Amino acid sequence: MPATIVVGTQWGDEGKGRFTDLLAKEMSVVVRYQGGHNAGHTLVVDGQTFALQLVPSGVLYDSITPVIGNGVVVDPRVLIAEIDMLTARGVDTSRLMISGNAHLIMPYHTELDALHERHLGDAKLGTTKRGIGPAYADKAMRVGLRVQDLADPKLFRQKLAVVLSHTNEVLTKVFDRPAVDAEAVAAEYLDECAPRVLPLIGDTVGVLHDALEMGENVLLEGAQATFLDLDHGTYPFVTSSNPVAGGACVGAGIGPRQINRVIGVAKAYVTRVGSGPFPTELFDSTADHLVDVGKEYGVNTRRRRRPGWFDAVMVRHAVRVNSLSEVAITKLDVLDALDAVRVCVAYQVGDQRLVNLPQSRLDTVQPIYVELPGWKTDISGVTKLGELPAAAVEYLDFLEDQIGVPIRLVGVGAAREQYLDRLEEDR
Ligand code: GDP
Ligand code: IMO
Ligand code: MG
Repeated sequence: MPATIVVGTQWGDEGKGRFTDLLAKEMSVVVRYQGGHNAGHTLVVDGQTFALQLVPSGVLYDSITPVIGNGVVVDPRVLIAEIDMLTARGVDTSRLMISGNAHLIMPYHTELDALHERHLGDAKLGTTKRGIGPAYADKAMRVGLRVQDLADPKLFRQKLAVVLSHTNEVLTKVFDRPAVDAEAVAAEYLDECAPRVLPLIGDTVGVLHDALEMGENVLLEGAQATFLDLDHGTYPFVTSSNPVAGGACVGAGIGPRQINRVIGVAKAYVTRVGSGPFPTELFDSTADHLVDVGKEYGVNTRRRRRPGWFDAVMVRHAVRVNSLSEVAITKLDVLDALDAVRVCVAYQVGDQRLVNLPQSRLDTVQPIYVELPGWKTDISGVTKLGELPAAAVEYLDFLEDQIGVPIRLVGVGAAREQYLDRLEEDR
């Protein structure tokens, strides 16, 4: 039975968490399939705000099994803190399951992330400094430690010694930093973290397939986004995993034939946090307006997000690489007060007009815009398509026409119920 993927179509923070939470109602399993606590997924339910980093955004429903898949990199200290935070706020996390194959983010990964960034100077990537890149690098180098290694202290120490024999050379000789004390790391991870994390390990692939075989719905929740994808994003200004829909197959343990719905989430404009090209970026008073009204600051890092107009070239590309069946738009309400709104429909490069994303040098393209009238109406209370001002309807119709797949869900506010479904006239 059907699996659905929720994937970001821009540079992250599109509102994947809020729509994952909404869709989770119909699901029996919700799986995070890549990334780590570089993600910040916000849910606003009954006036309470939850900022999730590792725990899947379906956790608020008692009916689902939240799963951290094999493709995720897990800092166990962060995971434990998040579970404690949720428990303290009355959320039942007892069904949370984690793949033993997921890799661990170790303290030296976090340190290396910051050191690499400093080393890059002006060429820095603007990472979240959470150790994501170094953890995936160790995974690719096949010297990473996995969640299941917490169960075998002897093996854990052996593996730690192997990776530190190299990492300590780098820390001391390249970065002039003290060597990592293997025993201190082992003590923290084995004595403090393991007792909390080991009971969560389960057969995540099995749970997913059992649910599918019983005809239940499963949801695969992406973190980051298409243009932060290691392969399909604006390399090198990307994350170190594959947020695209294909990454969901790898990171959860499912084949493409079982996926029948791929929902791309797009903001009604664009934001990006960290370095890298951004064709429709704004620097004027509209930029400040979008940041203020949209509260465009990182959920966890508190960094100001860079804002810009909706870029249909990007989302069209996201439709292709993810085989999106539909797009969900968020934050339409943030555009409420604008006199006019713009959409980038193509790029100008020299005398060429490109409607498809070029393979290289996104920093050299000039956006070609179409301007549409603003609606100058507060739409944050609208839950029916018929109540939406004509100009807002026109904007959505224009976006749909540009991106070539249906736009179904539209967010008009951060709260769970602040959305409309364009397929349901009355909900
Ligand atoms: P994610 O990383 O894709 O899950 O998105 P984030 O949670 O990082 O960022 C999205 C932000 O926008 C959060 O603060 C959400 O509460 C908020 N948000 C989501 N949808 C809407 C919407 O339709 N309108 C408004 N105003 N805020 C929204
Ligand atoms: P969610 O899931 C927005 C960005 C960082 C940086 C680049 C690499 O909330 O949408 P990393 O720490 O991953 O090595 O940083 O990716 N980045 C995000 N931007 N939302 C995210 O997650 C992000 N996760 C990473 O800012 O530019
Ligand atoms: Mg986010």
